[in-house]
Amino acid sequence: MPPDPAAPAAPADAEPPVELRRSEELDAADRAALRLLWDRAFSDFTDDDAAHAVHDGGGLHALVRHAGVPVAHASVVPRRLRFGAGPWREVGYVEAVAVDPDHQRRGLGRRVMLALHPAIAARWPVALLSTGKSTGFYARLGWERWGGLSFTRLADGTEVADDEHGGLMILRCDPTVVPDLRVDVTCEDRSGDAW
Ligand SMILES: CC(C)(COP(=O)(O)OP(=O)(O)OC[C@H]1O[C@@H](n2cnc3c(N)ncnc32)[C@H](O)[C@@H]1OP(=O)(O)O)[C@@H](O)C(=O)NCCC(=O)NCCS
Repeated sequence: MPPDPAAPAAPADAEPPVELRRSEELDAADRAALRLLWDRAFSDFTDDDAAHAVHDGGGLHALVRHAGVPVAHASVVPRRLRFGAGPWREVGYVEAVAVDPDHQRRGLGRRVMLALHPAIAARWPVALLSTGKSTGFYARLGWERWGGLSFTRLADGTEVADDEHGGLMILRCDPTVVPDLRVDVTCEDRSGDAW
């Protein structure tokens, strides 16, 4: 269809849109391009990390492209966690938040994260993530640092303390579900980093 001459032209400096994609909608080219992005943004990104970021049947990705290539990404996948002595419950777990080094500090990380927040709130009362140096970045977006200890439940059912709690953060869409951030939080083990 020819362009509508009456339509307002997009400003030259318009922000590129944030795309929301379910994991199943990412084709092989998208997945390969995302792996390149993650490898550029992180110095130590592993195959396990890449597998954790995608969840066919529940994963949701926010991404921004530049010239067709993804330059910013964040995903949320379902995970089962236990808070204190409460029941195991499904929550959102944010993975592989990355902005290409050539595009950082321009608000893209903030935009992909904020694009996930409504999707998280629609599906889960809370979401968690584990970060290293970026607690300040997430705190500005409303995430809170976990105040308790963290544990991993191994395949044989034993639960071991881990040292992840310093980098664990939570987004409480419904604060009544986890009213106290000083309780223990437990995840199920998986290959690669448990958290
Ligand atoms: C962390 C990362 C995703 C941030 O993306 P970004 O596009 O550079 O960040 P933005 O431009 O959206 O920054 C938004 C705000 O957070 C701040 N910010 C960005 N990175 C930060 C960090 N690591 N720590 C604290 N604040 C940070 C910015 O200064 C900005 O603040 P302002 O709005 O007051 O100016 C990006 O730097 C990155 O990919 N880093 C390498 C991979 C990584 O560490 N990912 C997170 C692992 S959990």
